[in-house]
Amino acid sequence: MATYSCLLSVTLSFLVLFSSCSAQISQVTSRGRQQRIQTQCNIQKLNTLEPQQRIEAEAGHTDLWDQNSEDLQCANVAVLRHTIQNRGLLVPPYTSYPQMIYVLQGEGLHGASIPGCPETFQYSQQQSRSRSQSQSQEGKEGRGDEHQKVRQIREGDVIALPAGITHWIYNNGQSNLVVVSLCDIGNAANQLGQSLSDFFLAGSPQQEFQGQQGRQQGQQGHEQSDSNVYSGFNQDLLAEALNIDRELVSKLQRSDRQRGCIVRVQDEFQVLAPHRREQQEREEREQEQGRNGLEETICTFSLKHNINNPSLADVFNPRAGRSSSINAYVLPNLEKLQLSINKVVLYKNAIYAPHWNPEAHSIMYFTRGSGRIQIVSQRGDSVFDDNVKEGQVIVVPQAFAVVQKAGNRGLEWISFKTHPLAMINQLAGRGSFLSSTPVDVLANAFNLSREDARKLKNGRREITLFSPLRSSSDY
Ligand SMILES: *[C@@H]1O[C@H](CO)[C@@H](O)[C@H](O)[C@H]1NC(C)=O
Repeated sequence: MATYSCLLSVTLSFLVLFSSCSAQISQVTSRGRQQRIQTQCNIQKLNTLEPQQRIEAEAGHTDLWDQNSEDLQCANVAVLRHTIQNRGLLVPPYTSYPQMIYVLQGEGLHGASIPGCPETFQYSQQQSRSRSQSQSQEGKEGRGDEHQKVRQIREGDVIALPAGITHWIYNNGQSNLVVVSLCDIGNAANQLGQSLSDFFLAGSPQQEFQGQQGRQQGQQGHEQSDSNVYSGFNQDLLAEALNIDRELVSKLQRSDRQRGCIVRVQDEFQVLAPHRREQQEREEREQEQGRNGLEETICTFSLKHNINNPSLADVFNPRAGRSSSINAYVLPNLEKLQLSINKVVLYKNAIYAPHWNPEAHSIMYFTRGSGRIQIVSQRGDSVFDDNVKEGQVIVVPQAFAVVQKAGNRGLEWISFKTHPLAMINQLAGRGSFLSSTPVDVLANAFNLSREDARKLKNGRREITLFSPLRSSSDY
């Protein structure tokens, strides 16, 4: 073990040399990038994390990971998972930090309101005329609802939401719609420190949902209520500002604890959205052709991208699996969010190259299967070595090295990364520093014979995803 950790520290100091050059390059491209809130990561041991708390709602529930765990505090993020039943509507919180949402299962509609942007989804003249004839409640002007873009969402979609954007999710599918959300508390956009303090525009979150910080503030005299943000305003002022009567203001302000954050839609749910197939075909075309050259403004930028399509994989090995990334090149919006995501599908017993993240924390959520993970600190200490399975979260702090090996049923995961163009530095295989360094440098650095250095350099010729060796299928 001692020699192993020594080797690793040699390896890492090598990598520091190699990465200082790429750091300079990335500084050039990251002009004006804001600093992430710095954290202390005195990690001796990492853990598999499971949800600590469940908050029931009228049409679903929300599972929360413990925001105070050392692991999540190190990365300065929070993780939560919403399960939305059929006809359930996740009521929009607005947040002071960016969020990345991954659709684990099911399908539905997603809407986001970007402040100051036009309502581009409109009824046509014809539609509104026929609607106003058939439905008298449409109003005297015969005008239907107009709103900002509504997207169809399905398994594998990644939704990237900048701070301050209100959004909602409606389950119009047959099964539960389950989404996992990474809240990037440590993002430069968040100036409120470390709290999961969502403001709620509607509905009424339970107090727990407003985070530990919220509770502490409550103890210090600033009373936290479980109401939405409108309920704090003076009724007359609000009535005038909205040009509505006071009775309606009271309805807007009332808190309805029972329903929680996911409410059930009683009647027909009417929003404007393109047909699923039509939208899906257009998106797939766009994803394959790349961007269409139109300049993206804050009003037109894309918030969503699907990461599951096997034909869009960045790395594919028929004997090991595939890996796909959505970063700021693919979804320019991520430059603003300072986040990216990687999805890996490892086949039975395959290995994902031991690697480290030079610029990002990585927050892994296992989406399918099981396997074994080992994580090693910068100092070469093993801080995690255990089996993992679907539904668990593991944080891999920046510069820690990690290796994943799939079990007999394969292993799949997503990694949220706190950098818009997060790359990995491999410690084995093609693409690693071993394969790109002269044999004599390796021989001298590790005190090996030339022959051994050559074996070390050329032993594994695959990139990133390694097929299992016949002899090593189980350990
Ligand atoms: C390097 O390796 C040789 C042969 O294996 C050994 O005799 C020598 O002591 C090693 N040097 C160091 C500094 O470990």
